Parts: sequence; C-alpha cells; structure tokens
Amino acid sequence: MTEKPRIVVTRKLPAPVEARIAHLFDATFNGADTVLASDDLIARAEDTEGLLVTPTDKLNADVIARLPASVRIVATFSVGHDHIAVPAALKRGLTVTNTPDVLTDATADIAMLLVLGAARGASWGERMVREKRWGLWSPTHPLGLDVTGKRLGILGMGRIGQAVAKRARGFDMAIHYHNRSRLTPDLEQGAVFHTRFHAMLPHCDFLSINCASTPETRGSINAEAIALLPDGAIVVNSARGDIVDDDALIAALQSGKLAAAGLDVFRGEPDIDARFRELDNAFLLPHLGSATMETRIAMGMRAVDNLEAFFAGKPPKDALKG
Ligand code: DGY
Repeated sequence: MTEKPRIVVTRKLPAPVEARIAHLFDATFNGADTVLASDDLIARAEDTEGLLVTPTDKLNADVIARLPASVRIVATFSVGHDHIAVPAALKRGLTVTNTPDVLTDATADIAMLLVLGAARGASWGERMVREKRWGLWSPTHPLGLDVTGKRLGILGMGRIGQAVAKRARGFDMAIHYHNRSRLTPDLEQGAVFHTRFHAMLPHCDFLSINCASTPETRGSINAEAIALLPDGAIVVNSARGDIVDDDALIAALQSGKLAAAGLDVFRGEPDIDARFRELDNAFLLPHLGSATMETRIAMGMRAVDNLEAFFAGKPPKDALKG
C-alpha cells in the first residue's frame, strides 16, 4: 500500500472536512483549535509535505523560509491570502492554493447585512431591547436611512463584489464600481464603471469594500477618500480591515461626516480599535463573512480538493500565480 501524504491541519475544521482529510492523508490535526505560534507550526511541519492553513496563520516571508524542505504545498482555507507571503512561497517552489467561489454568496449576504444593519441602526436597536432601554415609540427617534433606491459604490468588482451588486439590485440600488479592469456588459449589468476610485466616491450613498488587501488597497479608505463621499454616506467592509484607516473612519463617524459604518473585518482583529465599540452608528460583526455551516464545509472540501489534486500529480484548481 502506498503511503498517504503527510499534512498538517493548523485549525479545527468542520467534521465532514476532517473526516475526508483523515481518509486521504496522514494528517496532524489541531483538536484544541489554538492558533499555532510560528515555531510550533514549523516544528509540526517537519517531515510533512503539505499545510492546510487559515487566515489566523501568519506565513510571512520569514516563516516561509523556515518551513522544512519537505513541505511542497500550502492550501489555505480562505479566499483571501494576504496572511501568506505568496511571492516568497512561489519563489521557494511551493504551490499555494485558496478557496474562491464557494464563499461568494455567504460573504455577499454579510455585505448586505452590513448595509442594512448600518443604515437602520440595527446594532443600537438591538442593544436598546436587550438592555431594557427601549423607550416609547416616537415619530422622530430613532431614525435610520433608507437603503432602497440609493447609490451603492463597490470597491472591487470580483466575484464577491458582483454578488453584492446582484443583491443590491433587489433593493433598487444604482450600482457604481471601481475595479482594476472594467467588466464586460453582461457582468456589468448597467453598473457604472469608474476608472479612478476617487472619482466614484461622490456618487456613493453607500460604499461597500470588496477588494483584496494588497499594497495598493491597504489604507485606501483614508481621510482623503472619506472626504470625497457625500455627507451622511455609509461605509461597509466585508473584505479586510487593513483597507481602512481606522483613525479616519472613526473621526468621520464621530463627526457625523459618515452616517454609519458596517464592519465585519478589522485591522488587528480580534483586538480592534476600542473606539469602535463606543460608536452607536457602527454596526460591528466578528468576521462572519463565510461563517455558515454549508460554506465552511464547502471551503474545507475545496482546500482538500486542491491538496488531493496536487498529491495526485495534477494541477490544483486554485493554485495562485505569481
Ligand atoms: C476569506 O476566506 O478570506 C474570509 O475572510 C474568511 O471568512
């Protein structure tokens, strides 16, 4: 009998995914579900051929360089791969894969939840009920803002951005977008393309961040960008926290320049800037974008598909390119 490939699974994964991994591979699991320190991860990787990692594993260039020579593939359980120094990994000859497509709908659903939750003061309202601070019904307080019929600007019109646009059309929203390249008319579906990100901003009652975290996008929602939004606009982020300059966003929420924000991702999460917690006009979620049973199983299966293909000598579907 041929030996099964040896892999390390860095976090606890949904049971059906772990069962399939156990069937296919000689795997080390992490039943305690702790985040492994880099040294621990490197030690566990000794004599293994593959790593199945998640966004909580920070595989910077130093960690990549220190991985045992036996490791040939890093499969991440995520579509985002900003936690991996991909150029360093590819240069070292590693194959790196991610899990696109399968989390598109779940993440777009969360983006719409952020739009609705921020616009309608859902976070504030929920606290009023739970904390027994719900006063008499009033014609003038509290008042949120309409979503239906407003203009939604989408930064990053990839799979998730397009799925957000599809949902927003159900609310009769007019879609504007900025993307590295313009979509074909069948994908654009009437959305207005802006070649320059800043040129789009005055047209956004809502701005939804759906781009990857890259050197170009990091910090791009800064004071200059926020100043270009209409007064009372709403910003939602279901992509990555570091795309936003927290100081600028918090100042705009405090001053009322922005009516509200809906945030599922944060710089340095889960240790977020404490000022967010004090803001009644911030609707905050703990990185729930892909967090449904069905989607997390699909993500795990997709990561396993990539490992299985690789060890069968076939090109993994989701191998990242340089
Ligand atoms: C991803 O896949 O990148 C998500 O952020 C995880 O929810």
